[in-house]
Amino acid sequence: MMDKAGVMALLTTDDPEALYTRADQVRRESVGDKVHLRGLIEFSNVCGRDCLYCGLRRSNRAVARYRMGTQEIFSAAAYAAGLGFKSLVLQSGENCQYPADEMCALLRRIKRELGTAVTLSIGEKTLDEYVALRRSGADRYLLRFETSSSALFQRFKPDSSQQQRMQCLDWLRQAGFQVGSGIMVGLPGQTIEMIADDILLMQELDLDMIGFGPFIANAQTPLSGLGEASLDLTLRTLATIRIVMKDVHIPATTAMGAIDPQCRQRALNAGANVLMPNVTPTQYREMYQLYPGKPGLAQAPSDTYDTLVDLVRSIGRDVADDAGHSLKSIFGSGGLTGI
Ligand code: 5AD
Repeated sequence: MMDKAGVMALLTTDDPEALYTRADQVRRESVGDKVHLRGLIEFSNVCGRDCLYCGLRRSNRAVARYRMGTQEIFSAAAYAAGLGFKSLVLQSGENCQYPADEMCALLRRIKRELGTAVTLSIGEKTLDEYVALRRSGADRYLLRFETSSSALFQRFKPDSSQQQRMQCLDWLRQAGFQVGSGIMVGLPGQTIEMIADDILLMQELDLDMIGFGPFIANAQTPLSGLGEASLDLTLRTLATIRIVMKDVHIPATTAMGAIDPQCRQRALNAGANVLMPNVTPTQYREMYQLYPGKPGLAQAPSDTYDTLVDLVRSIGRDVADDAGHSLKSIFGSGGLTGI
């Protein structure tokens, strides 16, 4: 376990290139050279929360809301599986009110007919709901804690409780999921020391995946005009997370692609080993804008897939052909098969 002084020293190094090189080496030794592609399906932008930073917040009346039907979600998943994806991420706003039995039936069908790994990113739920989703075949769950600072959490998520979010992360483990969590960097008022604390918390939670990205102010939110995280801060944080956490999956996230066209490529050379191409049907994409500048809004799913395969090959790496389960030994090579 690295202590706070060690994490701070990495984050504030005066030689960031050496930090990136070291992170790239740790990545190669602990997770290998293959890049995992996860097809992201943003199946509903309906959200019951009012997070100040997010374009999907309940109070944003400027966004048209959609909910894909479960048949439509299945079709999108089947299309992605046909393109070659071995792993899919189903994401939506929180509490978008799909009946539990419908979600579970959808998961069983995806597992039975497509056989892909499935990650859910659908927010805070009860332990019973998590168990039901896991039993229906979902393998992994992403739930960012967003920030370890209670002051920032309260300010930016005024209708949520940090304690409840941490409780949910514990429940996800109990339910047998491979668990991913993470943060945004560059939030207004966030200090480097807070980011160091975030990384210590990731270490404590012993996560399987880390989802993190740069904050980008959205004009349709109360944080309009408050800028975005720099490429430098984003890459420093990424490299530090890789060095500290070692055998975890870390995506070069879409928000990284939004702050700088080179960012995702640079991220793959500074610790990242996963890309999450958007395979949401094109007609919904502009309605799913958490932040502005999201790349690939108008691209068809197959274009997006090819674009990212090209990106991976251009840096001399190759796309993995397995589902890319957790690297932690308790999940074995094929992930948990049941609970
Ligand atoms: N900028 C960057 N990331 C954002 N998210 C939400 N809003 C923004 C924004 N304005 C992130 C949150 C959330 C994830 C799905 O997207 O971290 O957990």
